[in-house]
Amino acid sequence: MNVIIAVSSKGSVTKTTLISNLAGLLADSGYRVLAIDAENTQPALSSHYPIVEQATNGFIKLIKERCLGPEVISKTSIDGLDIVVSDDRSDTLSEYILHEADGRYRISQALKTAEDH
Ligand SMILES: Nc1ncnc2c1ncn2[C@@H]1O[C@H](COP(=O)(O)OP(=O)(O)OP(=O)(O)O)[C@@H](O)[C@H]1O
Ligand SMILES: [Mg+2]
Repeated sequence: MNVIIAVSSKGSVTKTTLISNLAGLLADSGYRVLAIDAENTQPALSSHYPIVEQATNGFIKLIKERCLGPEVISKTSIDGLDIVVSDDRSDTLSEYILHEADGRYRISQALKTAEDH
C-alpha cells in the first residue's frame, strides 16, 4: 500500500486538485485507490467525483474510531476509486484531534487496519 499526501503551508496552491486528478489517473491505470477527504469546512475532494454508493459515515468515524471499513468508504463512479467523504462541516474534529493524546496519529492507525485489504 502506498500513501500519497499533498501538504503546503500556503492555502489554495492546488493540493486538492492535484490529489483528485492523481486519484482518478491512478484508478484509470488499474490501481485501487482510496481518497480521503480530511478538509472540514470546504470538503472539495468529496464533490469532485460523483458518488454512486454512499457509505453511512465518513471522515469523523475514521478519526474517532480509527475505522477504515465499508461503513466509511463510499464508491465513486470511477472504477477502482473509492472515497472517505468529509462530514465535518461544523469543524468539530480539529478540537477533538487536539485534545486526544493520539489525535495526530488517527489517520495512520486507521490506514494500518486497511493494509491487508
Ligand atoms: N492548473 C490550474 N490552473 C488554474 N486554476 C487551478 C488549477 N488547479 C486548480 N485550480 C483552482 O485553484 C483553486 C485552488 O485549488 P485547490 O482547491 O485544489 O487548492 P488547495 O491547495 O487544496 O486549497 P485549500 O488550501 O483551500 O485546501 C481552485 O479554485 C481550483 O479550481
Ligand atoms: Mg484543499
